Amino acid sequence: MTPRRFAGPKLVLATHNAGKVREVAALLAPWGIEVVAAGALGLPEPAETEDSFLGNARIKALAAARASGLPALADDSGFSVAALDGAPGVRTADWAETPHGRDYAMAMAKVEKLARHSPDRRAWFSCALVMAWPDGHTEGFLGEAHGQWVWPPRGTNGFGYDPMFVPDGHDQTFGEMTPEAKHAISHRAAAFAQLSAACLPVR
Ligand code: IMP
Repeated sequence: MTPRRFAGPKLVLATHNAGKVREVAALLAPWGIEVVAAGALGLPEPAETEDSFLGNARIKALAAARASGLPALADDSGFSVAALDGAPGVRTADWAETPHGRDYAMAMAKVEKLARHSPDRRAWFSCALVMAWPDGHTEGFLGEAHGQWVWPPRGTNGFGYDPMFVPDGHDQTFGEMTPEAKHAISHRAAAFAQLSAACLPVR
């Protein structure tokens, strides 16, 4: 079946994470699509009950599309470490949770503590992007960025686990790279390339 294309003019970004809103809005900018953040519409955050990135992105995109009556785009993403059998994976955000909000310095330290005795430093980011329509139709895409985890964390750009990840073929962490350099090779950009080819208006 041919994928359904977004016909505009407005798209809800079904994420409450400021870092992801910034990155996805930047990726969408060339299309001139009007982007509304789920937070700005007061949409609730549904529970992420699936055990895959695509499953959880689908839950978030469908909830936002149904509640707003507009097409919605959701991102579900995470960081996986080979020595930890892919953890934290879909639980990446949970590992940063504290009673006072998310603490990524603590979450990165947890990863390092559990993985430090393994010689296997491979790690990867995954990003699922799902577009949903109010009638329940969805289209989903998965992107990955492979590399190594490093310690101590380096750089203050980006967000989340960026400072402890060096992508293959590079020396800088995602936290040290400019946003443009990260966008050229990131898991989110890889998923977005597929999504834009299939679901965004041809430019
Ligand atoms: P989600 O809201 O369940 O998708 O949580 C995603 C988690 O993965 C959050 O903790 C993010 O900080 C982390 N994450 C996702 N993408 C990136 C990225 O590009 N850089 C750093 N951390 C990321």
